[in-house]
Amino acid sequence: MRPIYLDHHATTPLDPRVLEAMLPYFTDRFGNAASKSHVYGWEAADAVEAARESLASAIGASPKEIVFTSGATEADNLALKGVAAAASERLGGLAGCHIVTVVTEHKAVLDTAASLERQGVRVTRLAVDGEGLVTVAQVAEALRPDTVLVSVMHANNEIGVVQPIRAIAALCRARGVTYHTDAAQSFGRLPLHLHDDALDLVSLSAHKLYGPKGVGALVVRRAPDVRLLAEMDGGGHERGYRSGTLPVPLIVGFARAAELMLAEREAEAQRQATLRDRLLAGLLARVPQVRVNGSLSHRLPNNLNVSFACVEGEALLMGLDGLAVSSGSACLSQSLEPSYVLDAIGVPRALSFSALRFGLGRGTTDADIDLALERTVATVERLRALSPLWSMMQAGASPDSVTWTAAGSSERVAD
Ligand SMILES: Cc1ncc(COP(=O)(O)O)c(C=O)c1O
Repeated sequence: MRPIYLDHHATTPLDPRVLEAMLPYFTDRFGNAASKSHVYGWEAADAVEAARESLASAIGASPKEIVFTSGATEADNLALKGVAAAASERLGGLAGCHIVTVVTEHKAVLDTAASLERQGVRVTRLAVDGEGLVTVAQVAEALRPDTVLVSVMHANNEIGVVQPIRAIAALCRARGVTYHTDAAQSFGRLPLHLHDDALDLVSLSAHKLYGPKGVGALVVRRAPDVRLLAEMDGGGHERGYRSGTLPVPLIVGFARAAELMLAEREAEAQRQATLRDRLLAGLLARVPQVRVNGSLSHRLPNNLNVSFACVEGEALLMGLDGLAVSSGSACLSQSLEPSYVLDAIGVPRALSFSALRFGLGRGTTDADIDLALERTVATVERLRALSPLWSMMQAGASPDSVTWTAAGSSERVAD
């Protein structure tokens, strides 16, 4: 039997309704949307334009504001590098540009900012509080005359924490600074509107919303003060922002996935939040020394991230063999580094290594949550029964007087 999938932040299964919409564009309607001289090209172009309109309306944009990309990583790169490149032309080079972002952003933003920094761009990385939140006041304080872009994500991929993006966007609009948000995790799960929310650039990814992998978009508000340069040279597709033959089936699937997500958003958000809360309540009731990582009140409805004292992370994941969960972000799970997101919110290292991220989805049932709870409780209890550290704590050592190391070994430290 396959494990129960509770890792919907990493990716989501393709909805069969999405696949159905895509299939004709892999077979009969295979044309290149840029072919202007025959019906194959016209029908592909029509499908792309219908998808563009549908996606635009899902995010409160006009069709011309959608730039299809290969996913949110590319959209983030285009937003940061594209804005910096355009601004550098005005400001006499990249060294004249300043960007503000946050330490808990996805690597697609952080590594792009670091790459720009190596080329001379000044970068301010704002810290977050213990809940994972950044404040508008922090952003306001970071703005400088040379600030060309603020990039603060909507919802975090590890701890699901939702940033106050509307207030940050309003501040940026008032101060004439371009504002970008990575909405890969939130689009279709939380309300989001390009114009009402005063956003300038929004990164989206289809595979986070039951659409296909390999397609996403950068939503670019059409206004003279939102300027970016293309990252790739080529045939001038997507209004010159992103050259390359359009992946018609993927684009059709992306739009269909967004339509379905929106139609079911409120009901699903409520259902998944109820299940998530039930899982949390069960863990808190049955397992002592559990830490919830990140704000509970400003959080995606489908996310729970918890750590267990005196449990070794790898043993925990191995022990949960009937559950497909993750210890953090899929992009980082190859590395044995502790999560920089959990570090940023002040989770002690040992607790950071024992973090579990539960990502619920459309297919998650009551029975799945019951099983996840039973398996997690049993595994934590079994591992703690083997832990000398846990015995010490049971014997009265305060958690603060004990440190846990990454390898799971323990040492007493002086108070
Ligand atoms: C917040 C966030 N940004 C960007 C990405 C990258 O998206 P994609 O896989 O479409 O490149 C992800 C996915 O892991 C994400 O969660």
